[in-house]
Parts: sequence; structure tokens; C-alpha cells
Amino acid sequence: MSEALHPYLALARKYRPATFDDVVGQEQVIEALKNSINAKKIHHAYLLTGTRGIGKTTLARIIAKCIECVDGISAHPHEHNEECDFCKAIANGNFPDVIEIDGASQTKVDDTRALLENTQYPPLQGRFKVYIIDEVHMLSTSSFNALLKTLEEPPQYVKFILATTDPQKIPATVLSRCLRLQLKALSVADITNRILYIADKEGIVCDKEAAIIIARTARGSMRDALSLCDQAIALGNGSLKRDATLSMLGTVGDGVLVRILDLLKSNSTQELGEVLSTVRNLSPNYKNLLNELIMTFHDLALFQMIGGEDKFNVFSTSPDLLKAFSQDFSAEALQLYYQICLEGIEEYRFAIDGAMAFEMTVLRLLCFTPEKKKIL
Ligand SMILES: Nc1ncnc2c1ncn2[C@@H]1O[C@H](COP(=O)(O)OP(=O)(O)O)[C@@H](O)[C@H]1O
Ligand SMILES: [Mg+2]
Ligand SMILES: [Zn+2]
Repeated sequence: MSEALHPYLALARKYRPATFDDVVGQEQVIEALKNSINAKKIHHAYLLTGTRGIGKTTLARIIAKCIECVDGISAHPHEHNEECDFCKAIANGNFPDVIEIDGASQTKVDDTRALLENTQYPPLQGRFKVYIIDEVHMLSTSSFNALLKTLEEPPQYVKFILATTDPQKIPATVLSRCLRLQLKALSVADITNRILYIADKEGIVCDKEAAIIIARTARGSMRDALSLCDQAIALGNGSLKRDATLSMLGTVGDGVLVRILDLLKSNSTQELGEVLSTVRNLSPNYKNLLNELIMTFHDLALFQMIGGEDKFNVFSTSPDLLKAFSQDFSAEALQLYYQICLEGIEEYRFAIDGAMAFEMTVLRLLCFTPEKKKIL
């Protein structure tokens, strides 16, 4: 089968949510948007903020569809039918009245000025002229001034939907004229479920554990998670498997983390040699491994303070591991372990190789295990 006959569409692109209900997480922002759209109170400028890959561009396009739809302004356009021609065109990026600008690539004032001069002409087909400006913080100062002029007195048919990962870089004069909607990094649970949902739709065999490992690595970004899935599926010959995923990410999985925690908990060196050789055989990315230990100690410390079954989605460490070990270490010990691992990462660049940096860090964790000090 040639590639040309089966062009592979990246999962992140293929599964861009088309409606509010398809968007994962972001409940508060979506609730606010639905209410205002259903009440037909459309603000003249929305500003979507938050880290990469969590739905800013996606939501901007959904808002555009909701207010331009042939069937009328609604948070649920054509609930049971196919998308109308306007909505289809907006989704494909070729509706003349929805103008998408990438602030990162068009920072010259002329681009923005030419664009903003066009705001004086009413929409050609739609109800509104919608300007979606991505990475708006990248606009030059003079472009901001041009934008500000229109924002001060926008024609009633002009709507702005601005998006940025870096709201601090936006001048206060612009900020004060926007309705700001703060999106959140997505939880491990939300990302895991989305991966499982997509795998099911695609008919891909998927280990739940693989999905969780990827969700954790993505650190809140759905786009990153789906790109990692693409890679893992390619490496796993069409399926999403735990072992292929671990080796792709250069990490070791919960099993090994648990054994390291067991060493610390039992304060014994009996299993040490075996654990270290298991790790060596996996030849992981040692820096990632140290980072995973850091995350684990952070999550255990936090879990001790705020614990509770309902809070599992704020942690990247698995609930089983948290439950199993949260009683085994004092708060002070966890602080110390965390610091020792951070230092391990610092020293990593001076070490002869990754294995040595990692192993010395494990030995240091054992030396400084508080209970052990008492015994000595
Ligand atoms: N909240 C979300 N729910 C479902 N999928 C999402 C979400 N956020 C991002 N994605 C996925 O990641 C891709 C990129 O999202 P996008 O909205 O462009 O992110 P950004 O916040 O960087 O603008 C989407 O096409 C979609 O597949
Ligand atoms: Mg974007
Ligand atoms: Zn429509």
C-alpha cells in the first residue's frame, strides 16, 4: 500500500473537536461561552489563554461557527443534522468572513494594518466578521496599536477571538478591552479517556496503561499526547502497547518506580543490586527517569497534604501508587528525596554517563533516608 493512497492524518488534526460538547475539560469556560451565545450576547473580543494544545484554537473556531451558522446564533448549531455550508467552510478555514491570523508569523505592522483596515467593510456572507488572532502576544507594538484602535470602537459586526500562551506580554490597554477566558491544562484522567476514545474509534488495540503513560508525559497538553500516540502507534505496528510506549519515551513504568520506593520504604539494600540491573537492562533515558522520581515525590508529598479519592486527577502519579506509599514516608523524608533527585539532575551533566548519575542518586536517597540515619 503506497502512502499516497492512504495519507495518514495526524490524530490531533483528525480529532479536533467540532462542537462544545466534544471538547474535553474546560467546563467553566464552555459553560460561560454557551450561556452568552445562547443569550445572543456576543462580546466584541474574547481572549483565550493557557498553555499549548489545550483547545484555544479549537474553541475559537467553534465560537466562530456558533455565531455565523446559517441556522442562527446558538451554542448547539444543527444538533442532529449535518453541518451547514458556513460551518463546514469555517472548519476548513475557507469562509471569507472568518479571518485567521497567526501572530507568530505575521508580526509586521503592515499585515495587521491591512487586515484591520478591512474591518470597515461589512461581512460578505456571514452575520459577523470574525478575526481569530492566534499567539496574539507575538504582534509588534505597532500592530498592537492598530488592533487597539479597532478594539476601542469596533463596528458592531466585528468580533475578535484572540488566543495566547503568554498573556503577560499583552499590553494592558488590549487586555482591558477583552473578555478573558482562562483554559486549564488537562488532567491525566481527561487525556487518558480521550486517548482510549480515539483508539476505539480508530479500531486501534490500546493498553490502558500505555494511554496513562502517554497522558502523564504530555503534562496537560492534548496535542502533545496525540502526537505521542501517533509515534507510539507507528512504533507498535498499529497498536498502542505498554512496552513499546515505555521504550519510546525512554522511561521505565510504574513497576520499577514501585521497586525503588520499596527500597526506600524497607530501608534495605538487599534488592538494590537487582533493581539497578533491571533498570540498566531497560536502558532508559536516565534524565526522564530522575524526572519521574521527582514527580512521584512531589505527588506523594502533595497527596499527604490534600489527599482524597476525588482529587486523583490533580496528580500525574497513578492513584494505586499514591495510595500504596503515601503512609510510608514522613513529609520531611519526601522533601529530602525530592531535593536529592533535583540535585541528581543538576549533576547529570557532569556525570560520566546517565546510569552513573542515576545510580549515585539512588544510593544517596538510601544514605539519607531519615530512618536509616537513626539506626546509624
Ligand atoms: N480540550 C480538548 N479536548 C479535546 N481535544 C483537544 C483539546 N485541546 C486540544 N485538543 C486536541 O489537540 C489539537 C490541538 O488543539 P488546539 O485547540 O489547536 O490547541 P491550542 O490550545 O494550542 O490552540 C486539537 O486538534 C485536538 O485534537
Ligand atoms: Mg493554537
Ligand atoms: Zn452551521
